Amino acid sequence: MSGLLAGKKGLIFGALDERSLAWHVAGRCMEEGAQIVLTNTETAIQLGDIRTLAAARHIPLIPCDATNTEEIADLLDKTQELLGGKIDFVLHAVAQSMNLRRHKPYEEANYTYFQKTLDISALSLHKILATARQKDAIAAGGSVVALSYMASERFIHGYNDMADAKALLESIARQMGAIYGREKGVRVNIVSPSAIPTKAGSGWSELEQFYRYTESLSPLGNADQEDCAGTCVALFSDLMKRVTMQTIYCDGGFSKTMLTPEFMDEFRKEQTI
Ligand SMILES: NC(=O)c1ccc[n+]([C@@H]2O[C@H](COP(=O)([O-])OP(=O)(O)OC[C@H]3O[C@@H](n4cnc5c(N)ncnc54)[C@H](O)[C@@H]3O)[C@@H](O)[C@H]2O)c1
Repeated sequence: MSGLLAGKKGLIFGALDERSLAWHVAGRCMEEGAQIVLTNTETAIQLGDIRTLAAARHIPLIPCDATNTEEIADLLDKTQELLGGKIDFVLHAVAQSMNLRRHKPYEEANYTYFQKTLDISALSLHKILATARQKDAIAAGGSVVALSYMASERFIHGYNDMADAKALLESIARQMGAIYGREKGVRVNIVSPSAIPTKAGSGWSELEQFYRYTESLSPLGNADQEDCAGTCVALFSDLMKRVTMQTIYCDGGFSKTMLTPEFMDEFRKEQTI
């Protein structure tokens, strides 16, 4: 098998349906020669399309709640057994906020939901990496990528408690990157893509308007699932073997753009000073 990931073994969290970023990453990894295992919660496997999608491409699918360390330990054992060795790369594409889903304004957050948001969307990365470290499940020189969003560092109306979860997720990635890097030469990075319509994104009621806004400001336009998948594959590959503890924006340049000529023209129409 040839390709950027030829001979590599990967574990991918978070593929739910055909729109899922994780599903596109999985497809791209296979095209580049990797062998993979998919995982999601038992409920997601029952309710989503992933069982059918995985079966059609003969990809093993193992249930695991990413907040439960016993289930993670079991998943890591089974993955190594199925793939025949240690894991070379891991994708964390796991997120959920009941505050977002139930349209609770941030300032009126339900704290039980809030804690669940942090557990599912951020602490799960810590739990996966801490459990994998105990089991020495990730191969030397391996690569871990977690998906985040720019609301971790800038206020984005409507993103709710998920913004706090993303800030925590990015911090966990840096801390674990430092530990794993020294111990095993394993990289831990964040990919932060554009807003893309998926199931997780659907709880955010302003997504459609925001999507058009970012499209109008981004020099390269919004990134889609395939763009995000390409960035993850590059990070999984040996081409990026000295890149760690970074947040890589795959957003057409939106995060670094403040003002465009077109946007300025809109404001010129109403000159008041
Ligand atoms: N779609 C976007 O606009 C966008 C932008 C930036 C970052 N992201 C991030 O990308 C990642 C993937 O999201 P997506 O947009 O593909 O949506 P998605 O809904 O397809 O994926 C989210 C996944 O998290 C899984 N999940 C929820 N709770 C879990 C748990 N306890 N254990 C294991 N898995 C669990 C869901 O089943 C689902 O598969 C998320 O971290 C999301 O925040 C998405």
